Amino acid sequence: MSLKKIETLKKRDDLYLPTGDLKKYANLSDKSIYRRANRNPLKFWEKEAKELKWSKKWTKVFSHHPPHFEWFSNGKINITENCLDENLKTRKNKVAFIWEPEPIDEQARKLTYGELFTKVNEFASGLKELGVKKGDKVGIYMPMIPEAIIAMLGVARIGAVHTVVFSAFSPQALKVRLQDTEAKVLITTDGYYRRGKIMDLKKNADTGLRGTKVEKVVVVKRVGNKVKMNKGKDFWWHELMLKHKSKIVKPVEMDSENLLFILYTSGSTGKPKGTCHVCGGYTVQARTTGKYIFDWKDSDIFWSTADLGWITGHTYSCYSPLLNGATFILYEGSLDFPEPDRWAQIIEKYKVTIFYTAPTAVRMFEKYGTDLVRKHNLDSLRLLGSVGEPIDEAAWEWYFREIGNSKCPILDTWWQTETGGILITSLPGIGPFKPTYTGLPLPGIRVDILDDKGKSVKPGQEGSLVIKPPFSPGLLRAVYKNPAKYLKTYWSEYGKKIYFTSDSAIKNKQGLIRIVGRMDDVIKIAGHRVTTGELESAISLLPDIVESAVIGRPDEIKGEVAVAFVVSKNTKKSQKAIQEEVIQQVRKEISPIASPKEVYIVQDLPKTRSGKIMRRILKKIFSGEELGDLSTLANPKTVDAIKKIIRGLP
Ligand code: WT7
Repeated sequence: MSLKKIETLKKRDDLYLPTGDLKKYANLSDKSIYRRANRNPLKFWEKEAKELKWSKKWTKVFSHHPPHFEWFSNGKINITENCLDENLKTRKNKVAFIWEPEPIDEQARKLTYGELFTKVNEFASGLKELGVKKGDKVGIYMPMIPEAIIAMLGVARIGAVHTVVFSAFSPQALKVRLQDTEAKVLITTDGYYRRGKIMDLKKNADTGLRGTKVEKVVVVKRVGNKVKMNKGKDFWWHELMLKHKSKIVKPVEMDSENLLFILYTSGSTGKPKGTCHVCGGYTVQARTTGKYIFDWKDSDIFWSTADLGWITGHTYSCYSPLLNGATFILYEGSLDFPEPDRWAQIIEKYKVTIFYTAPTAVRMFEKYGTDLVRKHNLDSLRLLGSVGEPIDEAAWEWYFREIGNSKCPILDTWWQTETGGILITSLPGIGPFKPTYTGLPLPGIRVDILDDKGKSVKPGQEGSLVIKPPFSPGLLRAVYKNPAKYLKTYWSEYGKKIYFTSDSAIKNKQGLIRIVGRMDDVIKIAGHRVTTGELESAISLLPDIVESAVIGRPDEIKGEVAVAFVVSKNTKKSQKAIQEEVIQQVRKEISPIASPKEVYIVQDLPKTRSGKIMRRILKKIFSGEELGDLSTLANPKTVDAIKKIIRGLP
């Protein structure tokens, strides 16, 4: 099979359609799958589940006790047996992933399925020695290095539960997650590279785990940083691995509904929510979505640029390609470092065939200049993907034309940390693709768009995006230790039987879905999910700050950025000092990724008479929109004062 002759996509009216080989070789090209799957989603998912290795078959495909539900009840499975042992049979010497380090002069590393199997077993054996048992929680705080994948799989192999914390998260953010999960073990590194600089991750880890139940820490030597190792508590990864050389660990049999991992995402308050994903459903969803959406063939080289610390990293930079026996790239650094076209160099070097990234990256590539892209041969590409936020038409067209040479479909994939895998996107062999529309819900996924009263809206009208039973196998089962939050966030807006996504959307006549944006206080900074509430909680901890309000405003590259308004009681400090303090506070409490782009020091915030801060008005001041009737405000004058401050007037 060859995919050499990919033709330009056919354009009919405003739709792009797959043609020729793209269609012929796609894992799915028969439209009738939609009809069949939607008539009987359980049958569709059951057939998919049967393609995996289970040590015991399920007794029931789906059961529903709103707001709870189960998939593949009583089935027994281990995700790593499917990622590793199963692939040993036919792909032992096939490369599982190629690791590209950030430093340009450092050797890349390739791990075959056979080598990955060995390493994961050795590490799993090491974890057992450290006392980790089935159901225990293990924190992973690591950069994008092979050991991070080995760690995730090692934890899953022995039936423990991983909680990956993005390496750029602050010690404080790490602490909150370790405390909530009561993790006993943390896996980290001596440091990592960030745009050529060495970041002291071990130090951050040590700070973060004070006041937690972490007893043991495994440390990978990545940068050769001098670090303090605490005797009896800290263990070098390489020593542990050597001690367990060639050990084989039988994958622990897990119930379908046992926890596989907890991944935290921003909640509406300062406290992040631990989304709970389970062994059976997640595995099925991760494998199936990858197979049909990214359409892997044995010759493909897949690259998802997402960090393992996010759900996109969990599912498409790790589990999904491994479950499908695919070869993928794991890249340690920033896409534009040390040169702005590093990402294009990597595509060219490894002849990447499928590239999955975020709109913010696409806009950044474009900003660096189309000439830079044209210096590279990107002919190997056959599919392009987008995720995390709406991709605007200009970025879509540029991505399609300049990176994909008008021959690669753009898979605009909609999903959430909560859904565990992609739920909406047009499929490569079927289409259609339309800029700004994410596409069709996957076969077997029933979505709807509802008005306030719970009625489906007409095509072209905006409403809330919801998912109807049987949802999807990979959807979260709980918010860790917080059933009330689970119920309130996802199963209250339209009752206990309808999953509320918090996104607003529009469906066109062809059934294609366009995501408009979040309906809650989530803002997407370069695709990262941050809530205004968590930023405000962090800022309010500063002793000088009386109150604060944070809003998101559009940004050319990042999509959205945070803007903070603060009232300070310290009249002696300079404006600049207060602004710096606020920014440092967010970096310290959350992460540099959440840093407000602008901080305004104001006398007062616009409020209703009952004291509610009117963020909507602040947003409008920014966008220049009509403010409307301000007479309901307790302090209408403050609006003019804020306008002046924003415009830099005295
Ligand atoms: C929110 C979820 C999906 C993994 C990474 C983000 C927005 C996601 C799209 C898309 C428009 C999108 C939604 C969603 N979103 N994908 N293709 N088009 N918006 O996961 O951080 O949990 O964020 O991201 O608003 O609810 P997340």
